[in-house]
Amino acid sequence: MRKKIIAGNWKMNNDLNESQSLVSGIISGLGSDDKCEVIVCPPFTSLNEVHSLVKDSPVKLGAQNMFFEESGAYTGEISASMLKSVGCEYVILGHSERRTIFGESDEWINKKIKKAIESGLKVIFCVGETLAQREEGETDAVVKNQIINGLQNVTSENLKTITIAYEPIWAIGTGKTASPAQAQEVHAFIRNLIEEIYSKESAENLIIQYGGSVKPDNAASLLSQPDIDGALVGGACLKPASFLSIIASA
Ligand code: PGA
Repeated sequence: MRKKIIAGNWKMNNDLNESQSLVSGIISGLGSDDKCEVIVCPPFTSLNEVHSLVKDSPVKLGAQNMFFEESGAYTGEISASMLKSVGCEYVILGHSERRTIFGESDEWINKKIKKAIESGLKVIFCVGETLAQREEGETDAVVKNQIINGLQNVTSENLKTITIAYEPIWAIGTGKTASPAQAQEVHAFIRNLIEEIYSKESAENLIIQYGGSVKPDNAASLLSQPDIDGALVGGACLKPASFLSIIASA
């Protein structure tokens, strides 16, 4: 059985003090059972201090982005080894906000994925369609393209350290969630695609998280779908109570 993963993407929220208090609230409210993996992804400026708070807890640390070069003249960027050095185990790559606001291409995302894996980071690889693409019936084609391009030259061994997060762009931060059936349909499509590209075993082991306005009141119905193995949570991860409630649903 696949272990569920609940990850909180804090985005550009929380200064250092706010980060410490949020993560402390999450840790103190967590039960001891390990049926589900919990990850927090604070902004870069809080990673080190959040790591010192989570390191003796079940909570894992992730970053929201990284660059694919090792080091050098890349003003404003952060490398995989820098993330490792402050205790990150995961990194989110290919988030739709990186794709649309910061112009990241599939090619860049693929380079980042390969660099992250080579550096020993686990990847949460985000894919998803816009509302216009969904209305045009292009969801499967868009998601397929993003996955094929993003996973170029990623071996089945490496795929074991990747989870895919299906995040329909029209559901992110909008309060509109894909219905459990809509999400399940795309998750099943992704799993079949992974079986075609890799193998049945790779497909069965792949964790596919759903993201897009996951809240305490819709988490259970989404997470009960057979191919939904977790959630990538934005807005609802910024308060311990709502994040903990989503974790409890998992
Ligand atoms: P949301 O964000 O939960 O606020 O919709 C999810 C995400 O962007 O990962």
